[in-house]
Amino acid sequence: MTNAQIGLIGLGTMGAALASNIADNGFDIAVWNRTRSITNDFVENAGDLAPRITGTETLEDLVAAIATPRAIILMVPAGQPVDDQINALRPLLDDDDLIIDAGNALFHDTNRRANEAQGPFLGIGVSGGEEGARFGPSIMGGGEKTYWDRVAHILKAISAKHKGTPCATWMGKAGAGHFVKAVHNGIEYADMQMIAEVYGVMRDGFGMSAPDIGSVFARWNKGPLQSYLIEISGKVANAFDSKSNGPLLDIIVDAAGQKGTGRWTAIEAQHLTSPIPGIEAAVVARNLSSQRKERAEGEAIFGAAPVAIGTDQLSIDQLETGLIAGKILSYAQGFAMINAASSDYDWALPLPKIARVWRAGCIIRSSMLDDMATALTRNPDRNLMQAPAFADLLKAHHMALRQIVAVGTLHGIAMPALASSIAYFDAMRTSRGTANMIQGQRDYFGRHSFSRLDGGVGCHGPWAE
Ligand code: 6PG
Repeated sequence: MTNAQIGLIGLGTMGAALASNIADNGFDIAVWNRTRSITNDFVENAGDLAPRITGTETLEDLVAAIATPRAIILMVPAGQPVDDQINALRPLLDDDDLIIDAGNALFHDTNRRANEAQGPFLGIGVSGGEEGARFGPSIMGGGEKTYWDRVAHILKAISAKHKGTPCATWMGKAGAGHFVKAVHNGIEYADMQMIAEVYGVMRDGFGMSAPDIGSVFARWNKGPLQSYLIEISGKVANAFDSKSNGPLLDIIVDAAGQKGTGRWTAIEAQHLTSPIPGIEAAVVARNLSSQRKERAEGEAIFGAAPVAIGTDQLSIDQLETGLIAGKILSYAQGFAMINAASSDYDWALPLPKIARVWRAGCIIRSSMLDDMATALTRNPDRNLMQAPAFADLLKAHHMALRQIVAVGTLHGIAMPALASSIAYFDAMRTSRGTANMIQGQRDYFGRHSFSRLDGGVGCHGPWAE
C-alpha cells in the first residue's frame, strides 16, 4: 500500500491503540516504530484490521506509504523525543505535509513547535487511557484551523461519541489543545484525590472493608456522581488479590505516581494568577504520598491519628453529597482557569465546547458535564459555581462538604483537596475578605500603598509618623 490516509509513529500502548482505532474506523494507516520488532508484532497481531495497516521499516518507507498531502501522528514520549522525531521527519516531508503531536505535551512546547515548525503542525490532547485510544478517546485539537480541518474527519470518526456527537473539537491555535488537556488532567487529579479522601473516611473513619466501600461507589455511580472515575474506583475497591487472599486495594502501596501534567496545570495557574486550590492540593497530595518514610517517622513521633468516626457524626449520604459539592468546585476552578488563559494567551477557548468534548471518552467524563455544558453555553464567563443549577446544588450540599472536612480534620484524616474546595467556596462567597490586613502589612513594611473603600487610591498608613 502506498496511499495510506494517515501515518503514525510510536507503537507504545497508546500509539498502538490509536492506530488500531484508526484502522477499525476504515482508514488505511501506515505505522512505524523505532524498534522494528514492535512494528512487526503489531502488524502480525492486527487480525481483521491487518489489511488496513502497513508496517514500515524506515522513516523513509513510512513517508512513502502515505498519500499526499500527508498527515502523520506522533505518539512518542513528551519532551525531547518529540523534538527529535520532528527533526528526523520534517526533512523527509513535503512542505504541506502535516505533523500531529498527539502525546501529552506541555503546551508551551506545543506553542514553540507550532512557531518553529517548517510546515503544518497540530498539537492534540487525547484522553481516555488505552481503552479510550482504542475505542474512542476525547480529542482536544490545537493549531491552525485549516490543518485541523484536513484531519477532522478522521479524528471525529475515531473519537468517543456522546449521544452521537463526536468528542473531538478544535480548541484554538498552537498549544490550545494541549493546554485544555492539561487542565483536564488537573481536574482529573482533583477528582481522583477527592475520591481517595472519602475512601479514607470510609476505610479509617468508618472501618469499612474495601468491598463494602466498592459497593458504596457502585451505588453512587447510579446517582449524581455518575462518572468514569467513580465507576473504576468501585471496581478497584472490589478487586480481589489471590496472593494476599484479600482485597487488592489493601496491598497497593500508598504512593501515587505522576507524569507531570497535574503539576503543569498547577504551575500554569500560578502564572495566570488563576486560583485552582483544589487542583493544586491534589498535586501536593501526590507529592506528599511519596514521602512514605517521613510519614512513617511522623507517625512514630506523634502517634496514629484517632481516626474512628461514629456514624452519628458523619454519614455515607453526607460523603456523597459533600463529594458532589467538591466536584463542582474543582470543575469550576478548572473552567475559570481556562477562561483566564483564553484572554492571557489570546485564545478564544470555547468553554461550552470543552465541557461537551469531555462528556465521553475522557477520564473525567461524568453525567454532570452535560449540565455544565448547558450552564457554560448560557454564560461562559460566569464562574460555574454561580450558574443557577450548580449554585442550587452547592446551596444544598456545602454543609455536607463542611461536615466531612470538619469531622475528618478532628479525627486526623488528611483531606487536602476537599478542605481546599470548601475554602475556595467560602472565599468566593465572601464579599468582604481579609486581604485589607495584607495590604496594611505591605504598606507598613514596604510602602506598597493601598486603596480605600471610600475611594482613595495609592494611600499610605500613618506608619512613618
Ligand atoms: C488521560 C490521562 C492520561 C494519563 C496521564 C496522567 O486523559 O487519558 O490523563 O493522559 O493517565 O498521563 O498520568 P499521571 O497520573 O501519571 O500524571
